[in-house]
Amino acid sequence: MKDIYCLAIESSCDETSMSIIKNGTEEIATVTNTQIDIHKEFGGVVPEVASRSHIENITIVLSELLEKSHMKIDDIDIIGVTYGPGLIGSLLIGLQCAKTISLVTNKPLIPVHHIKGHIYANNLEKRLTFPLIALVVSGGHTELVYMKEDYSFEKIGGTLDDAIGEAYDKVAKICGLDYPGGPIVDKLAKLGKDTYDLPYPLNDDSYNFSFSGIKSAVVNLVHNEKQRGNNIRINDICTSFQNRCIEVLTKKTMKALKEYKVNNLVLAGGVAANSYLREKLTKECQKEKINFSYPSMKYCTDNAAMIGAAAYYAYKKGIVANLELNAKAVVDLYNEK
Ligand code: KG4
Ligand code: ZN
Repeated sequence: MKDIYCLAIESSCDETSMSIIKNGTEEIATVTNTQIDIHKEFGGVVPEVASRSHIENITIVLSELLEKSHMKIDDIDIIGVTYGPGLIGSLLIGLQCAKTISLVTNKPLIPVHHIKGHIYANNLEKRLTFPLIALVVSGGHTELVYMKEDYSFEKIGGTLDDAIGEAYDKVAKICGLDYPGGPIVDKLAKLGKDTYDLPYPLNDDSYNFSFSGIKSAVVNLVHNEKQRGNNIRINDICTSFQNRCIEVLTKKTMKALKEYKVNNLVLAGGVAANSYLREKLTKECQKEKINFSYPSMKYCTDNAAMIGAAAYYAYKKGIVANLELNAKAVVDLYNEK
């Protein structure tokens, strides 16, 4: 069978990333320009600043990618692009670039849901084995997804309000920590003790999640302690918060694997970088003889390689867009229409 080379573009938030992926599994080259330092001084991503930076960098990233891969645009077979969900102004830059290349080269344009990309990041490490359950934990999503085969996504459960990454970032902010907060909370949690009596986030029998309660509990705790003039033990807050969240995520994931009789678990999304979540799931999966995989750090944060992996399987399923494809800030993971 002929090899398929995908040129993939990801610009949904604050990374301008392009990649060339062979047959959905092999990374030929990736170039990513991250804007973290630009947004740091604002304590979060500023959408207008993000889209401007994408515009300034996208052609540079493309030239660097072609140079790094020793490939020409004519060597590409398909063009994969994140069209949503994400920041609309940021998505539009990557999408316009993808459409232009598709028009000029007459190569198929493959629309990729950002979160499906995160799941397929695992395919770059080791070919996915089905059926599997994916625990998707990112800045915008917390989902348990059932996949019976490639590019088939069924909902098991999801968050009713805030995403887990959003809660990490909010807790970091209220504790006066830098942006992005998740990795810092993860680091400080290792230094603290579980001394704060925080509530478990939706610790019930369902597969749904809810992180707004624990987030508000941390906000109120910090506020009250400040008002009383008490010392706030930041490390202990991080440990207590992280323990509660990861415990519920782990418990519900293991329950789903059992109930759905699935032996394969993959972790996906930015919060897949969390050391405690990886450790807890590794331990539990060893106990239950579940094959567990998570992406390496470079594939946890937003990157185009994962979009190129997903695009290949979308293409094989016949998912091809025309030049009317538009960017979408919000897209249902299970029904993209
Ligand atoms: O996947 P991603 O880029 O967001 C979306 O696509 O929505 O993930 C970013 C999120 C941020 O909330 C960031 O704080 C969080 O992932 N994150 C972490 C860690 N590393 C990144 N959260 C907890 N622990 C980490 N080590
Ligand atoms: Zn992401």
